[in-house]
Amino acid sequence: MGAIASVRKSNTAIQLREPTDFGERNFQSALVIFTNACNLECSHCFVFRDDNPNEPRDKMDDANMLHQLRQLRDKHDIKYMLFMGGEPMIRKDLLVEAMKIFEHCSIATNGTYGIPSVPGHLVSVSLDGPEGPNDAIRGEGVFRKVEKAIRERDMGDGTSVMLQMVLTRQNEAHLEDFVEEVKDWPVTGLAFNFYVPTRDDDSPLVWRDLKERDLVVERLIALKRRYPSFIKSNIGSLELMMSDVCKEYIGEDGEKCLLRNVLPLYMGDEGSFERTFCCYGNDVDCERCGAYGIFNQAFHLAQGNEGHLLITGASV
Ligand SMILES: C[S@@+](CC[C@H](N)C(=O)[O-])C[C@H]1O[C@@H](n2cnc3c(N)ncnc32)[C@H](O)[C@@H]1O
Ligand code: SF4
Ligand code: SF4
Repeated sequence: MGAIASVRKSNTAIQLREPTDFGERNFQSALVIFTNACNLECSHCFVFRDDNPNEPRDKMDDANMLHQLRQLRDKHDIKYMLFMGGEPMIRKDLLVEAMKIFEHCSIATNGTYGIPSVPGHLVSVSLDGPEGPNDAIRGEGVFRKVEKAIRERDMGDGTSVMLQMVLTRQNEAHLEDFVEEVKDWPVTGLAFNFYVPTRDDDSPLVWRDLKERDLVVERLIALKRRYPSFIKSNIGSLELMMSDVCKEYIGEDGEKCLLRNVLPLYMGDEGSFERTFCCYGNDVDCERCGAYGIFNQAFHLAQGNEGHLLITGASV
């Protein structure tokens, strides 16, 4: 990485560095771990797993973040960027600036720093169940704090705000209660993802086998039939997640997975980007992967629909 230019900030020259070389191919979609810092410690979080670049001190300075994202956009023709972390709202001012770089943006946030006003863009706010189960996963007081932020925001500002729940074996029992609780909140809808485990994961989060997970997928399909506009999951996409067919869209070790076409920009050593095996990091068990985006993308391709590869459950 060579220094190509410098900018001045508070009398200190900041060296602008070239981004890491990720080859020549185009990536229509990418995600960026905007910061490795986070104020929560959610029990299911893939970001802070041992095998991932996630050292909080390796923060990229603001000027380099903007410069490197622009360079990568131009080199790989990136049209769609998902801003996540860590918690991206920890760098809110920079986030708003960085969103100007890409044609299409969305933010995944834990909602505890308020809901950003980003007209024309999607903000996906994570909650993983009703108050008790959510707070057991995300931390004491988080549910009510996020609810308050959602209710207090300016509803007319043109930002699309969606909730996102990650289903695990630990919180699946609360699926229906959660939908009942939030269905009248002032949000565009509720999206779902399923847990993505590590290879040796035998935690209480992971289903004993995919057939056990099928029962939860079926419950979600039933909820979708009941609340078709509020629940942002496609029945056709969910059907591709079922245990008898899901491998067709994943392969033995992720080789068929369409989410591998998304460029994951993790925050690596010395404030430079690193690419991981997939969006969910390096240590992932593809066979048991619950990433809705894979099946949703496969579903849309089969329908002949073009579109952006979105990795969150908020892709409908
Ligand atoms: C990693 S977080 C980063 C953004 C923000 N901090 C948040 O919590 O939304 C992005 C999304 O990934 C989800 N997630 C975390 N670990 C996961 C896992 N192992 N499998 C599936 N989704 C996961 C989170 O629940 C959240 O909805
Ligand atoms: S808030 Fe997001 S990044 Fe932070 S621990 Fe929870 S899921 Fe991970
Ligand atoms: S873990 Fe899931 S998203 Fe990642 S490559 Fe494997 S199947 Fe695809």
